[in-house]
Amino acid sequence: MKLIIINGPNLNLLGKREPTIYGNTSFESFFEEELKEKYSNVELIYFQSNIEGEIINKIHEVGFSYDGIVLNAAAYTHTSVAIGDAVKAIETPVIEVHISNVHSREKFRHTSYIAPNAKGVISGFGLKSYELAIQSFL
Ligand code: DQA
Repeated sequence: MKLIIINGPNLNLLGKREPTIYGNTSFESFFEEELKEKYSNVELIYFQSNIEGEIINKIHEVGFSYDGIVLNAAAYTHTSVAIGDAVKAIETPVIEVHISNVHSREKFRHTSYIAPNAKGVISGFGLKSYELAIQSFL
């Protein structure tokens, strides 16, 4: 089983960024110390970019060979027709995840260009959202 977690803009600042919403843990330490340990039987890759085109290139690169993509496109979720189209274009199933419950926040966060073409959406469980997505692929 080959899975990739793709994180979008500003998620490189997890642990420092708005900790009351996003928590105190950096994604790197969560990934290395929890996810990789817990799912050592899974080939698990992590990619983060603040650049829309790099996220699209990565989706294209893995989208015909991996078993699943866990995608937190962050703010691009609510704005990017291009990432939505990329998710539609590939064969690998995508699960959209969010750390916060986007539906309990500002109205602009209620729109997703990814969800219509995603296998499912997980939102609001903190970093556990990523784990729930991995579990759904297993
Ligand atoms: C987020 C929610 C988005 O609305 C926001 O722009 C983010 C993070 C989340 O994981 O809760 O950057 O995707």
